[in-house]
Amino acid sequence: MPAERILLTSEQIQSRVREMAGQIEADYPPGPIYIVSILKGSFIFVADLSRALKRHCVRIEFMGISSYGNQKTSSGQVKVTRDLDVNIEGQHVLIVEDIIDSGVTLSYLTRVLEQRKPKSLEIATLLDKPERRIRPVRVKYVGFQIPDEFVVGYGLDYAEDYRNLSDIRVIDGEATDSEQAALFR
Ligand code: IMP
Ligand code: MG
Repeated sequence: MPAERILLTSEQIQSRVREMAGQIEADYPPGPIYIVSILKGSFIFVADLSRALKRHCVRIEFMGISSYGNQKTSSGQVKVTRDLDVNIEGQHVLIVEDIIDSGVTLSYLTRVLEQRKPKSLEIATLLDKPERRIRPVRVKYVGFQIPDEFVVGYGLDYAEDYRNLSDIRVIDGEATDSEQAALFR
């Protein structure tokens, strides 16, 4: 029987996302911001964050990075599975990630993108598990610091499931089909 409980409600998430957008608006000069959405986990966060920004020139770009496979623990291996198709040289670039866990993914990605000479390069993450960090990462915007527990929902998956939950939940163990169905009631 998997333990499953709500960690962050949809309302908590929405209100924090609006605060983060306000902070980002205040920090960036007028002009384009290049959001680099890390697939797939950040797609819902990027959709909400970008719509809460008040300027029209929010460019949305996507990058695919894989470090996990379908496991709950990191393989420690990072690879770019989909690269940007724009030149970010001289641009304000904001990497948007769902969660920072070991830091392996973002420390690698930061090095890759810095070589392309953006005007600025910052990171916004909805969730941060600082206890798990093995690589240092300089993160400017953090939605919530969470304990070392495996979470799903609001874009985050377990083996590609649960991404479409509106809230964020802790799952522990394998859920049966009926238990999974109950999550969406
Ligand atoms: P890191 O390289 O260990 O920092 O891992 C970052 C990636 O691992 C995230 O983008 C997620 O895809 C995945 N990840 C880490 N923790 C969780 C979790 O609790 N739930 C779902 N995915 C996670
Ligand atoms: Mg991810």
